Amino acid sequence: MVILKKLNTGDADLKTLVSLESVAKDMVKAVKRRDVIIVIDALRCCSTIVTALANGANSVIPVKTILEARRLKKKHPDYVIAGERKGLKPKGFDLGNSPLEFSTRNVDGKEIILTTTSGTKAISLSKKGKWVLIGAFLNAKAIAEASLKIAEREKIGISLVLAGKEDQFSLEDFLCAGAIAESFPTGNVELSDAVVAALLSFKKARGSLKETIQQGSHAKYLEEKGFESDVEFCSNLSIFNIIPFLKEGAIIPLETSIWLTLCDSPRNRK
Ligand code: MLT
Repeated sequence: MVILKKLNTGDADLKTLVSLESVAKDMVKAVKRRDVIIVIDALRCCSTIVTALANGANSVIPVKTILEARRLKKKHPDYVIAGERKGLKPKGFDLGNSPLEFSTRNVDGKEIILTTTSGTKAISLSKKGKWVLIGAFLNAKAIAEASLKIAEREKIGISLVLAGKEDQFSLEDFLCAGAIAESFPTGNVELSDAVVAALLSFKKARGSLKETIQQGSHAKYLEEKGFESDVEFCSNLSIFNIIPFLKEGAIIPLETSIWLTLCDSPRNRK
């Protein structure tokens, strides 16, 4: 029976392997596997990127340091400079890292330079990856669907990489990995044990997601600093269909037509 099943299983029926890296420094493993990488920083960097693009920003340029951000702003005075250190907007920046600041009025048609403590650093670590997407609760379903389409077409795996906080594990990023995993059709994917754990945790938390996220240290910190509404907003599940995609150092919305072309381009043929 087993042999027959194997013989009858065409290439197209192979399941996509989904892995999870629980700290940003292990991004290198996902890059080595040549997986589709989903960088997750639910509070707040990736939620900010998703919201900015959903509200019409042309692109978000993630940079590691405040100095780099300031240099880029000097070169392009029309760009919006945004980000945080210790959760707060650095001196002279146009916007902080609160997704609620990234309204249509503030970002429509603009390029955004973004530097954050952990999120943009994690994204920088992924720059050698061919397929890098940005995930949050806000776009969990859309990102699961897009990543699976790319992975199936390219015959590669998917890695959920948690940005965490200063290279420490973060509760909300783990739950977000589970939220994304929930949207994969079960017949198409094979989940690693870490992804199964994230999925089970998310299912348990789903009914009181915000309250569960609030038990994490970063949510507590943000609330202490007066960002309770950010924690609430970032806990919204799949309210945007945006698929942020890292291309040549800038994050842009990945339209279906674009990624089909990218999948077909010779660069992506093995
Ligand atoms: C980060 O990238 O470290 C976070 O987005 C921090 C924050 O909540 O501002």
